[in-house]
Amino acid sequence: MGEVLRHSLADRCMHWANAVLWLLLFITGMGLVQHEALAPFGQAYPHLLRRMVGGGGNLLLVHITLGCLWMACFAAYIAFNWKNTVFFLREVFSVQAGDMIWLRRKMPLMVFGPALAARFGLGTTLPPQGFYNMGQKAFGMLNVLGGVTLAFSGGIMAFGIGSTWLIGWCVTMHYIAAGLVFIGLLAHLYMTLAVPSERPGLRSMFTGFVPESYAQSHHANWKL
Ligand code: HEM
Repeated sequence: MGEVLRHSLADRCMHWANAVLWLLLFITGMGLVQHEALAPFGQAYPHLLRRMVGGGGNLLLVHITLGCLWMACFAAYIAFNWKNTVFFLREVFSVQAGDMIWLRRKMPLMVFGPALAARFGLGTTLPPQGFYNMGQKAFGMLNVLGGVTLAFSGGIMAFGIGSTWLIGWCVTMHYIAAGLVFIGLLAHLYMTLAVPSERPGLRSMFTGFVPESYAQSHHANWKL
């Protein structure tokens, strides 16, 4: 059996640029949070980061610059890969019959294994999935909605557009969106890095290709 293309070069570059920029935005963003109750790593981390870049003003500038670079990468990707963008959006936002059953059954199957899941009376057969499985679709939706929220709220805060009331809401929305995408990211990292049966998917984020047998077993409804 041969190999099939799953991720084009442009898709892979976009994915890794997004991953690196997300990491940097998270690192710098956490350094901007100074309120006692909201700083997840306490006060030492923001103080250290601010000292490293020469103050809070500079740290904010770095964060905004990274955010603009992140948006520019997406704008360039969308402009030159319109067909792939439409494909991605259509795939992640189309929930098919059986997708929710897949999601419900996949978690216990991964945690307990098929034998124990069967003993608990849980279903062990997974409905066939398309190009993305329901877990990937949910994370894709979160990325799109979270990304748009972060870009809009970040833009309004950075350029001080609108009233104090609007900026206040943007701060809240920025925190919530970043927090939700971060939670989704933990599941994404677990699925892609720790689950052995997903290894071909991980390899495809570097080489572009997956074995045909993997495409058929994991994404039977993907029209090759
Ligand atoms: C070390 C970090 C990361 C690793 C190892 C990783 C791994 C992967 C892999 C293997 C896939 C392909 C899954 C498949 O098609 O079977 C994927 C897709 C995806 N990842 Fe990541 N990822 C990382 C970071 C991120 C970050 C930070 C984000 C966004 C916050 C992200 C968002 C996505 C999205 C939206 C997709 C679907 C897009 C596509 O298939 O082109 N990833 N990731």
